[in-house]
Amino acid sequence: MITIKTESEIDALRESCAIVRDTLAYVGGLVKPGVTTKELDKAAEEFIRMRGAYPSCLGYCGYPGSICASVNEEVVHGIPGERVLREGDIISVDLCAYKNGFHGDGARTFAVGRIDEEKQKLIRVTEECFFAAVKDLRAGTPLYDIGAAVQAHAEENGFSVVREYVGHGIGREMHEDPSVPNFGKRGTGIRLKAGMVLCIEPMILAGGRGVNVLDDGWTAVTKDGKPAAHYENTVVIREEGVEILTL
Ligand code: MF3
Ligand code: CO
Repeated sequence: MITIKTESEIDALRESCAIVRDTLAYVGGLVKPGVTTKELDKAAEEFIRMRGAYPSCLGYCGYPGSICASVNEEVVHGIPGERVLREGDIISVDLCAYKNGFHGDGARTFAVGRIDEEKQKLIRVTEECFFAAVKDLRAGTPLYDIGAAVQAHAEENGFSVVREYVGHGIGREMHEDPSVPNFGKRGTGIRLKAGMVLCIEPMILAGGRGVNVLDDGWTAVTKDGKPAAHYENTVVIREEGVEILTL
């Protein structure tokens, strides 16, 4: 069931999403060679709690971290740990904050020091995929236009989209209907309505299609070992466009 949010519910979402936005910026500022992903996790958890929110990922289906920290060939759901960031790595940080009954969700991919041109292009194109998807989005847009726009922009640039993981609705639950794939056929799917709130989250692979999940049961890695990037915002569908809550 897809829920339509009232303006007062959207106000609550706006606050959770502002915490997500600020935490992502804070964590991004801590990313540098020598830092472990566990240190980033602890810093994010403290920041989120200081703002009176709860890091929704912590304990979700037994997930042990407050953030997902996915390095290089890790696509999503990387568990924070002793891995030390090195110059030339990229790290995708995905996190949620829960406050006043509503979840916000966002992700960014950060460079660790200087990175090569392929990784620079991957991060840039992944962000562009999000903006391509929301450019013409408004009430009445068919749902799968989102994925069609993401896929077209990624593939035009020689990259692949992830099919195993998708974006989603969000609100009182971290994952609500509908699923929001990063691929699809333009003009298909339900027509979006004003007041729907979606997490649009391109997950883009520098190489070929396909991911595996490691023995930890969470970490998704590319089959070909090439890097991946992730960029996510929570957005409200409006009559005339979208309101991006995590920017
Ligand atoms: N933000 C992630 C998502 O949209 C949260 C992953 S759940 C976790 O799916 F438990 F892995 F954190
Ligand atoms: Co999400």
